[in-house]
Amino acid sequence: MERTVFLNGEYLPESEAKVSIFDRGFLMADAVYEVTSVLDGKLLEYAGHSKRLERSLSELGMGKPKDFDNLLEIHRELVKRNDLQEGGIYLQISRGSADRDFVYPKDAEPTLVLFTQSRPVIEVPAAKTGMKVISVEDQRWGRRDIKTVQLLFPSMAKMMAKAADADDAWLVQDGFVTEGTSNNAYIVKDGKIITRELSNDILHGITRASILRVAKEAQMEVVERKFTVEEAQNADEAFITSASAFAIPVVQMDGETVGAGEPGPVAARLREIYIEESRNNAI
Ligand code: PDD
Repeated sequence: MERTVFLNGEYLPESEAKVSIFDRGFLMADAVYEVTSVLDGKLLEYAGHSKRLERSLSELGMGKPKDFDNLLEIHRELVKRNDLQEGGIYLQISRGSADRDFVYPKDAEPTLVLFTQSRPVIEVPAAKTGMKVISVEDQRWGRRDIKTVQLLFPSMAKMMAKAADADDAWLVQDGFVTEGTSNNAYIVKDGKIITRELSNDILHGITRASILRVAKEAQMEVVERKFTVEEAQNADEAFITSASAFAIPVVQMDGETVGAGEPGPVAARLREIYIEESRNNAI
């Protein structure tokens, strides 16, 4: 069955939604995106994603598409038209279509695309088994705080993980873990939740902000600092967070078991509280 997608003001069957070969998203990866999870047919963390999207546009001097103020309504309409109960909505804005040039075009109209993806988000095997990760040198560009579609290096790192029979890669810069290919990274040691501090080196995860808040509310200690691969291997637990994964335990790092080699209580508890709270606040 064809999905209904949204392209520049129109709801269309996916096979009819076409973007120009001159689109700067296609030619230059000159585009930003967001992924919002859907649970029980409702949007999770919408306000956070919307705010970060606005910041990404502003950091790149990119204009807002015409429908920017209707984005919540468009998300909800896509959920309705596709009868989406569980999964996510992908949104992308590119600077628009113009003849190829490194200089930003003055009068291009931004391209706005949204589509739904139906998939389980609660009952995922990795939540029970945990993930295996490998470390890979972080060779991405330096503005990872902007959520751009330049995802080739994260894709390469993910393929390296698959080739090593692992589930994902944790990226390492100057000996310290930055984040996962598409998620934020955490370790737990002596009851403390440790995750890299915010900077241009990592994406400021919307799930990260909520997880740290619920952790503090549950009287858990949070330390925002850099950590090494060795610390991860010697940690009591490790886990990742993202809009599509919520919180998922990591049980192996570069072939070494982390903690007991099975999902630990802190990650499991955070996943549970986060899902409950997000469900209650979904719109
Ligand atoms: N990825 N770090 C990176 C590099 C990411 O790509 C993501 C999200 C995160 C987590 O951010 P958030 O909690 O706001 O989802 C951290 C999305 C889900 C993706 O690319 O599909």
